[in-house]
Amino acid sequence: MAPKADVLTARAPRHVGVIMDGNGRWALSRGLPRIEGHRRGVEALRRAVRAAMEFGLDYLTVYSFSLENWSRPVTEVSDLMGLLKRFIRDDLTELYKLGVRVKVIGARDNLKPDILALLEQAETLTCANTRLTLVVAFNYGSRQEIATAARQIAAKVAAGVITAEDVDEAMLAQHLDTAGIPDPDLIIRTSGEQRLSNFLMWQAAYSEFVFLPIHWPDFDRQAFAAALAEFAARDRRFGGVTLPPENVKVQR
Ligand code: FPP
Repeated sequence: MAPKADVLTARAPRHVGVIMDGNGRWALSRGLPRIEGHRRGVEALRRAVRAAMEFGLDYLTVYSFSLENWSRPVTEVSDLMGLLKRFIRDDLTELYKLGVRVKVIGARDNLKPDILALLEQAETLTCANTRLTLVVAFNYGSRQEIATAARQIAAKVAAGVITAEDVDEAMLAQHLDTAGIPDPDLIIRTSGEQRLSNFLMWQAAYSEFVFLPIHWPDFDRQAFAAALAEFAARDRRFGGVTLPPENVKVQR
């Protein structure tokens, strides 16, 4: 079913972050192995990218593997790595042709060389595309991202490149993996869980949240449109107040 026109036009977010949760439960409830849930999760990801383009988003950030996910059984970790590799191998050309720019955020120092090479290949091939930026949070954890930024800034202060007084919000943001990417307007999490799980904690300071009761493999264009419609109905005040139009005075 096509979304109402207002979903596509009124108060559309520029950047949506997605916590793709519930693959395991989706599989379990059908008596299938967890890997099948992740496989179907990749299909949902393909649908989400196409819908994001159709809805005119500039950025879609997907949480594909967290630093905490390393604590899963080795077979599941290996399955997830395999799916990422296959996703890049199978989908990169198509993403390139669609005009998608791929950007990867997360730690890179502990990744196997073959994974690292694929991530870099995806970024290099698509770097000039402008239709949609697909930000893949892989091997990502927000606390580590912030700590790394703080360490880099501290090193610059110690080296005398900057002073402690130069350190402000903008500088910290410039040292995050997401430097140059606008903060997410909306974060969607599937599976009914209602938490951020170390995803874009700095960047989500003023994001709206929509928690969907469906598992990620069932996420489709209609679910995406429903989340955007909910976003469009929200009153974003960014810490200010919403006044009736006749009371709005612009300070000069
Ligand atoms: C959460 O479901 C999902 C993940 C940890 C991985 C997300 C991965 C995909 C959507 C597919 C892989 C895509 C790429 C590009 C690597 P869960 O396993 O935590 O589900 P559960 O909470 O029901 O167990």
